[in-house]
Amino acid sequence: MNSIFSLFRLQPREGSPGRSRIFIYLALAVIALLLSYQLVLNHGSLESVSPWGKTSVGGAKQDVAEPPTYSWRISRTPEKELVVAAMRDSDMAWVAENVPDWTTTIYRADADKSEYNFTVPRNKGNEAMVYLTYLIDRYDSLPEVMVLMHGGRYQWHNDNPLYDSVVTLKDLQIDHVKRTGYVNLRCVWAIGCPSELEPGRYFRERPDDPAHPTAVEYPDRFLELFPDEELPEVVGVPCCSQFAVSREAVRARPKADYERCRQWLLDVDLDNATSGRIFEYAWHIMFGKTAELCLDVVTCYCETYGYCDMEPIELQNHWVWRGMVLPPNWPESEEQS
Ligand SMILES: *[C@@H]1O[C@H](CO)[C@@H](O)[C@H](O)[C@H]1NC(C)=O
Ligand SMILES: *[C@@H]1O[C@H](CO)[C@@H](O)[C@H](O)[C@H]1NC(C)=O
Repeated sequence: MNSIFSLFRLQPREGSPGRSRIFIYLALAVIALLLSYQLVLNHGSLESVSPWGKTSVGGAKQDVAEPPTYSWRISRTPEKELVVAAMRDSDMAWVAENVPDWTTTIYRADADKSEYNFTVPRNKGNEAMVYLTYLIDRYDSLPEVMVLMHGGRYQWHNDNPLYDSVVTLKDLQIDHVKRTGYVNLRCVWAIGCPSELEPGRYFRERPDDPAHPTAVEYPDRFLELFPDEELPEVVGVPCCSQFAVSREAVRARPKADYERCRQWLLDVDLDNATSGRIFEYAWHIMFGKTAELCLDVVTCYCETYGYCDMEPIELQNHWVWRGMVLPPNWPESEEQS
């Protein structure tokens, strides 16, 4: 104890010999050497002191036995994975043909385990069951950045003039995802923004609103799913349940949270559309963002896709509503017209 105190006093204690100070400096030098040696040869063991992946948001304590992450390898190219919620008969050839640089995991929600390696315990809650199953299956071996999408290449959910998932994947700024954690694949506010749901008011006033079952169900369901978290007053986020998320943002919650959410989805007595939509308006909160996450559109396109010099007319035409179903033979039909 004496020698530790004397270190902080800087002045040698009365009667303590100068030799013990030299000894402390020597010891410090040895510790510094050992630390740098470990940094070079074995970053994994130093990471056990890093806070990433250990923060428990949902309250439950996480048991820590995970493979080393790559946070020490500053210059490493991000490792990215595309996770798709498809069906047994979805034609997924577009992925290998157009984005071969992505590691891809295609879940077939209605397929049998004997037929496909990636499927779900029960086809319920639309893409939410797939996303939760992936997060649980891969919690210990997640890529640095993952993109969770639907199976169709062209779909109105996609925020570009062709509604093309390939454009989304090619232009997505992976470093931005790494920096910010959760990134919705849509910037446009149509559907979801600025305030899709008002859980606070619906909880207090219980309005009769049969046309909006998600709004009606959300308050109680949110509290069932996240008993330790505060019910948001307003939820606003672009629609459609397609997003990118970093490993760090996923691991900020213990695996038990995702398991609890999936069990809730397996047990819940709601139709698929409503239970799926409750997650659609909860993913960003699960991954650490504020409940109201409607970003400035110009900044969002720049940061998310690198579209930083859009003219006002381009901005206006970037995503337009054409109805739930795109014209037949899209996009060839578009090119002819
Ligand atoms: C499932 O995984 C195994 C082992 O990786 C592989 O050999 C097999 O081809 C896969 N099956 C399908 C249907 O993808
Ligand atoms: C959910 O979707 C699956 C697959 O289409 C269907 O079998 C099931 O009956 C649906 N469940 C509910 C509650 O609507």
